[in-house]
Amino acid sequence: MERIIDIRDVTWRRGDHTVLNNVNWQVRSNEHWALLGLNGSGKTTLLNMINGYIWPTKGEINVLGHRFGEIDLRQLRQSIGWVSSSLQEKLYGTDRTQNVVISGKFASIGLYEKTGEEEYARAESLMATLGCSHLLDREYRTCSQGEKQKLLIARALMADPKLLILDEPCNGLDLFSREMLLDSIQQLAGRSDSPTMIFVTHHTEEILPMFSKVLLLRRGEVVRQGETASMLGSDVLSSFFEAPVAVEKHDDRYYVRAVR
Ligand SMILES: Nc1ncnc2c1ncn2[C@@H]1O[C@H](COP(=O)(O)OP(=O)(O)O)[C@@H](O)[C@H]1O
Ligand SMILES: [Mg+2]
Repeated sequence: MERIIDIRDVTWRRGDHTVLNNVNWQVRSNEHWALLGLNGSGKTTLLNMINGYIWPTKGEINVLGHRFGEIDLRQLRQSIGWVSSSLQEKLYGTDRTQNVVISGKFASIGLYEKTGEEEYARAESLMATLGCSHLLDREYRTCSQGEKQKLLIARALMADPKLLILDEPCNGLDLFSREMLLDSIQQLAGRSDSPTMIFVTHHTEEILPMFSKVLLLRRGEVVRQGETASMLGSDVLSSFFEAPVAVEKHDDRYYVRAVR
């Protein structure tokens, strides 16, 4: 099975702060992973490293079969789709939605390349996959937070990435917008051409059954990783959060509450 991500003994230090400590993580092409950790646990830092924006202080990292140091990082980044709320703010509000999506092909903020029917058709089809065809030709700034996130996922898919990283995609969404976004992600996973996905969150209930593996990250260290069902039990999570929690499972989703 192809290794999408292979991280071995990776440490990242900034001054005397060890942000990531001895991380080991292998992602195979047939797996979708959820990355769970509280604020500041190092999730985004780990993603920045996978995208080649920062380099390990120690250890080795291979992404999509390429060892860092031996590959053109711009080329690598074209194979990785990345959706985050910080990206959402960088895009231009007056751009048309389909142009926001098409710009993903060039990884640009704004659309400067000459594009034709082919790109337009692809954008239209991706917007349909994400359940947001009705947004066609709207100004990006008129879309709701949840609609923007769907557009950003469609945008990330424009370059046919092998790996799709969703960094806290449900942040700021109300309950129903969140469920609609999660539905779209589930739909996407069902497609034969869907990329390997990594879903980053600090809410267990956002972890859909399609995410068969979970990595628990705390203070820059991998506490545990493995099959979702064995990672999201009350005992494992109480020990992970260092506070008693109770987990209830409904429809293959895990709801956590603090126990007083
Ligand atoms: N460039 C940096 N220099 C110093 N510290 C950093 C840098 N980037 C992140 N950190 C620190 O690393 C920790 C993890 O941050 P981050 O990866 O953003 O966490 P998460 O995404 O899990 O909320 C935080 O304490 C943050 O302040
Ligand atoms: Mg983060």
